Amino acid sequence: MDGSLRAAARAAKGFMPEEEGLALYEAGLAGARCGPLLEIGTYCGKSAVYLGAAAREAATVLFTVDHHRGSEENQAGWEHHDPAVIDPRTGRMDTLPFFRRTIEAAGLEDVVVAVVGQSIPVAAVWATPLGLVFIDGGHAVHVAMADYVGWARFVAPGGVLAIHDVFEDPAEGGQAPYRVWERAVAEGFAPLSQTGEPARPTTRRPLTPTTLFGRIWSLWLR
Ligand SMILES: C[S@@+](CC[C@H](N)C(=O)[O-])C[C@H]1O[C@@H](n2cnc3c(N)ncnc32)[C@H](O)[C@@H]1O
Repeated sequence: MDGSLRAAARAAKGFMPEEEGLALYEAGLAGARCGPLLEIGTYCGKSAVYLGAAAREAATVLFTVDHHRGSEENQAGWEHHDPAVIDPRTGRMDTLPFFRRTIEAAGLEDVVVAVVGQSIPVAAVWATPLGLVFIDGGHAVHVAMADYVGWARFVAPGGVLAIHDVFEDPAEGGQAPYRVWERAVAEGFAPLSQTGEPARPTTRRPLTPTTLFGRIWSLWLR
């Protein structure tokens, strides 16, 4: 990945370690062979820089969907709260200005397209097949599952579904993304290898987080 884009991603506010961002970039490159990229959960644009870098290289675009009001776990009193993203005028979260600065600083305004709104109403009217869908919106089970139901059907054959914060062991983290992962596998997605190439059937199991992308687990649609 381009060095200046890596630096821009590093400088952006967000929750994604660089190692995972680079894995996401690889997943983006793999998926971009089949169509444009889309992520649910923009926040301040950190992951959008990694996916935007892949989109630029593949001459496609990244759509990034967020209402910019934060998930439950981003609100005051929760672990992932950042008071800097509160709009003093209203007391509500507003990450949109931070996202705009991130993408401007990265020079990705021609590649990264913000969709500002709630994920499900957007999915309800969406029609374009996608090369990659990255699920990193709300992490409550009903929210993450609704994102899966709303968006996974747009993954083009051969495209990639990537899910953030997948923890097989409940002691390591919340289980909603892992439930989504399990459902995706049950419904025909196959795990990807770390290089972004479809894993051969013999290498598909056992499935452990380390065989995939750290906390980002990716699948491809057969
Ligand atoms: C974990 S953060 C995304 C982090 C980002 N992908 C990154 O790595 O920099 C989750 C985001 O999902 C957004 N979100 C949560 N539920 C949503 C929904 N139903 N529709 C749209 N956005 C939602 C929140 O506003 C928040 O910005």
